Amino acid sequence: MPCTVVVGGFFGDTGKGKVISYLALADDIEVAARGGVGPNAGHTVVYKGQKFVMRMLPSAFVNERCRLLVGPGVLVDPAVFLREVEMVKAHGRVGLDPQCAIIELKHKELDRRGHLKERIGTTGTGCGPCNADRAMRVAKLARDVPELEPYLTDVPLEVNRAIDEGRRVLLEGTQGTFLSLYHGTYPYVTSKDVTASAICSDVGVGPTRVDDVIVVFKAYVTRVGLGPLPGELSQEEAERRGWAEVASVTGRKRRAAPFNFDLAKRAVMLNGATQVALTKIDVLYPECQGARKFEELPREARELVARIEEELEVPVSIIGTGPGVFEIVDRRDELGLKR
Ligand code: IMP
Ligand code: MG
Repeated sequence: MPCTVVVGGFFGDTGKGKVISYLALADDIEVAARGGVGPNAGHTVVYKGQKFVMRMLPSAFVNERCRLLVGPGVLVDPAVFLREVEMVKAHGRVGLDPQCAIIELKHKELDRRGHLKERIGTTGTGCGPCNADRAMRVAKLARDVPELEPYLTDVPLEVNRAIDEGRRVLLEGTQGTFLSLYHGTYPYVTSKDVTASAICSDVGVGPTRVDDVIVVFKAYVTRVGLGPLPGELSQEEAERRGWAEVASVTGRKRRAAPFNFDLAKRAVMLNGATQVALTKIDVLYPECQGARKFEELPREARELVARIEEELEVPVSIIGTGPGVFEIVDRRDELGLKR
């Protein structure tokens, strides 16, 4: 650690929320900053029997000592932000950058009809139209919204100072590599880049300051909205395998396909991954449920991990074995990875 970036492989919904909430507690993360697009994301955290879907605040909120920041690259929906601050009682420890652009009603309206809804299948949260206004230099910024005033802080300065002081910093990405405006399946993508470099830029951290990039892959691939999904299963087959998920922000059905090694390799390349987290292995192999040690996993699961490591040439350091924050096999110590 000192500074770790966590991003999604595939098309988002890979379990970043769960992995980040685990790291926040296990590594006692002191400063977490969210990059990425905005409230189109939904990071699910299941902690102490409660389920949280975080759209604006970092998933590291579960560590009550952790400072929670939103970088200037991120779009903020003030109502969603304020609701989450209230929900997780984060008033004293949350900050957002005055330069975050603000999603207004008009952005949501534009996102919920016409080309964006019908051709792209966006989340309807206003992100694309807001980023368009931002590029046109007509967007409203957080510094213009009185209700946000108490939370404003220089996020790049806070994060870089924390790194200077050797504190444990985590940068949280959103969506997934193949939803990137630059590297994804254009035009079926989100409204900006979401690879690790972009997440650093969103938060104002230069590439030389990052120690680890963890790319999170789910043990199978899902996608919501339109666009190509190689190896896509029929809805019935997806349901039979238990892969037919429901999207956390839009409530739409997620399309599903088997783990894709070609996409995963490319995601490792595009993000400069130093580690891979593999989530929901318990959905493929129910015997994995709740396991916390690698030896507890059945042979097929261990073989899948070995094959992923061989093909991707990156260690699979974290394996998700259930929805709860601590349902994780953490192999970092046994693999000799620092943290
Ligand atoms: P937008 O980001 O709302 O403009 O949506 C563009 C595309 O990205 C659509 O296919 C969405 O379903 C997808 N998308 C955006 N955010 C997420 C996410 O957090 N998880 C999964 N898909 C997403
Ligand atoms: Mg999600």
